[in-house]
Amino acid sequence: MKKQLVVAVMAAILLCVSVVFAEMPGPDPDSLWKYITKESPYKKWEFWPDHQGMQPGRAPHGPLHKVYVNDRAFNSVNPPVQYGAIQVKENYSPDKELKAITVMYKVHGYNPPDGDWFWVKYSISGKADKFGKPAGCIGCHGTRAKNDFVIVHEFK
Ligand code: HEC
Repeated sequence: MKKQLVVAVMAAILLCVSVVFAEMPGPDPDSLWKYITKESPYKKWEFWPDHQGMQPGRAPHGPLHKVYVNDRAFNSVNPPVQYGAIQVKENYSPDKELKAITVMYKVHGYNPPDGDWFWVKYSISGKADKFGKPAGCIGCHGTRAKNDFVIVHEFK
């Protein structure tokens, strides 16, 4: 009887743990794409208060963009942002055609020396061209390490 109870309690704990972790995807381009397009569609997220809607941008990302942030990013007042924070950047051509989607996802323990960001550059159909810890992404955003590698938003 006692043993059965222990087994039942352990099973319940395991279930809770897996439910909590199932909320967020791992650092993997396909699960992240599924998450931002189906499970928590990024178009319903927020814009940073100081970076709303379509904005002009610089190389290498293209001339126009929108940056959507999930609630864990949006609710982060000071750097570093909370784990689970995601920023999705839509990159547009001069005539406002969507060209690529670049994403930063904060994953606990993924890459501590460089802010634990998981980086992905997707085609508009969700194919990952570059992902992981690309030296290019990190090198450029690293100039803003004090702002948690975020360029378009200033933490106060
Ligand atoms: C040469 C510098 C440079 C490189 C390389 C670079 N970025 Fe950026 N990134 C920027 C700049 C500048 C901005 C600000 C918006 C703009 O001007 O387009 C930005 C903005 C972003 C944003 C919006 C959130 C933020 O931090 O402001 C995301 C997401 C992003 N980049 C992802 C990536 C990913 C993923 C890569 C690698 C595949 C990458 N970037 C490579 C310069 C760079």
